[in-house]
Amino acid sequence: MKPVLSVRNVRKRFGDHVALDGVSLDVHEGEVVTVIGPSGSGKSTLVRCVHQLEAIDGGAMYLDGELLGHEFHRGHLRPLPDRRVAAQRGRMGMVFQQFNLFAHWSVLRNLTEAQVAVHGRTTGRAREEALRLLERVGLAGKADAHPGQLSGGQQQRVAIARALATGPRIMLFDEPTSALDPELVDEVLSVVRDLAAGGMTMIIVTHEMSFAREVADRCVFMEHGRVVETGTPEEIFDRPGSPRLRAFLSRFSQERVREVPDERTLQEENAR
Ligand SMILES: Nc1ncnc2c1ncn2[C@@H]1O[C@H](COP(=O)(O)OP(=O)(O)O)[C@@H](O)[C@H]1O
Ligand SMILES: [Mg+2]
Repeated sequence: MKPVLSVRNVRKRFGDHVALDGVSLDVHEGEVVTVIGPSGSGKSTLVRCVHQLEAIDGGAMYLDGELLGHEFHRGHLRPLPDRRVAAQRGRMGMVFQQFNLFAHWSVLRNLTEAQVAVHGRTTGRAREEALRLLERVGLAGKADAHPGQLSGGQQQRVAIARALATGPRIMLFDEPTSALDPELVDEVLSVVRDLAAGGMTMIIVTHEMSFAREVADRCVFMEHGRVVETGTPEEIFDRPGSPRLRAFLSRFSQERVREVPDERTLQEENAR
């Protein structure tokens, strides 16, 4: 079966710094791939390159077999015109850490704009789809609100609805919960979980390790701009092969342990 997304030996540099050092990854229809790895390992750069927010320096990417960002012309590759790049981007949905909603637009307009501008839908049809999606993410009734009137968790759910509005072939999430207060994380994760259950094809970059494990069909560990290890959640989390993945996972579980107040702190609190 042809993958929905194919990333082939992609390289990306920022000046002298190599952010992606030959990354390859296939994502098949209905597959959920979670990406974990230390800060600076290239996770955001990977999804930003796929979404063509960054130009790549080498390799190639294909969406449903179609080359992204370039076309063959008289035996040579040449960059696609902006309008064609925009159309390719419109076949993917991206959700950022910082929501990136337009603050001066209503929730409804945030959801309808691309449908009308990029996909040529009528306002009526776009509105209908927007209202359907708001209901799906648990925000029926918020269509006329402005992003500033919503909690971070609600804003992120609007951003997810917006990314879904154009019927993407694949959803790309870049740490969708890392800007949220802890009590708002679950409402966003449950929407993502729901999409996974509905068969959406997705790449999810996340530092929520238990979520990365639970929602994934396949999990990818990145470090220094490379895919170090890829496998089922059981392989990655229970039987990590590389010392680097083992070190990363143990660092993570230690951080978790440290967040829990120790015995003495609890006693001090009780004594007050
Ligand atoms: N726009 C940029 N300009 C310069 N360096 C960047 C830029 N974006 C990312 N980098 C660098 O590329 C590396 C990978 O970054 P990133 O993909 O954001 O990592 P991650 O998301 O895994 O934390 C980091 O060293 C980062 O500093
Ligand atoms: Mg990042």
